[in-house]
Amino acid sequence: MDRDTLKVLISAEQIEERVKELAEDISRDYKGKKPFLVGVLKGAVIFLSDLIRNMDIQLEVDFMAVSSYGADTTSSGIVRIQKDLEQSVKGRDVLIVEDIVDTGLTLNYLCENINSQRPNSLRVVTLLDKPDRRKVKFEADYCGFKIPDLFVVGYGLDFNEDYRQLNDICILNL
Ligand code: IMP
Ligand code: MG
Repeated sequence: MDRDTLKVLISAEQIEERVKELAEDISRDYKGKKPFLVGVLKGAVIFLSDLIRNMDIQLEVDFMAVSSYGADTTSSGIVRIQKDLEQSVKGRDVLIVEDIVDTGLTLNYLCENINSQRPNSLRVVTLLDKPDRRKVKFEADYCGFKIPDLFVVGYGLDFNEDYRQLNDICILNL
C-alpha cells in the first residue's frame, strides 16, 4: 500500500468513540424493540460489525448489495440490487446501515425499495455524509461525521476494492 497518497481524515480512535455514541443513541431509541439492521455491502461491513458490538438490545442483521448502473457509478442514478434480503421486512423496524451518503441516490432508492415492503419503521444510520454532493434530497437519521467533498478510503470504504482494511478514514490523493 502506498502510504504517501493517504492522509488521515478521521482517526481510528475518533471513529471508535463516535461509533459507541451512535450505538448508544440507537440502543436507547429502539429499547424494547428488535431492530432489523440492513448492512449495505461491502463498504458498511466494518462499521456494522463495530456498531452492533456496542449495542445492548436485541437485533437482527441482514445484508443487501447494490450497484449503480453504468460506468460512471455516481452519476447514472440507476441502482441495481445485486443481493437482496433473505427475510421479509414487513412489520419490522428496519435500520439501514451505510458507510457514506454521497449523491444520496443509493439510499433514496434503497429506502423506496424497503418502504414498498411495508416495514413498521425505517431509519438510516450512516458513518459518513458528504452533504455538498447531493443530487437528491436525503437526510440520514443518524450520522457519524459530516465531511467535505473529498474521496475517502478505509474502515470499509474502498477505491477500486483497495484500502478497505485501513483502521483510519483517509483522504486518497490520486
Ligand atoms: P451515493 O448513491 O452517491 O450516495 O453513493 C454512495 C456510495 O458511493 C457509497 O455507498 C460508497 O460505496 C460510494 N462512495 C461515495 N463516496 C465515496 C468515497 O469518498 N469513498 C469511497 N466510496 C464512496
Ligand atoms: Mg456503500
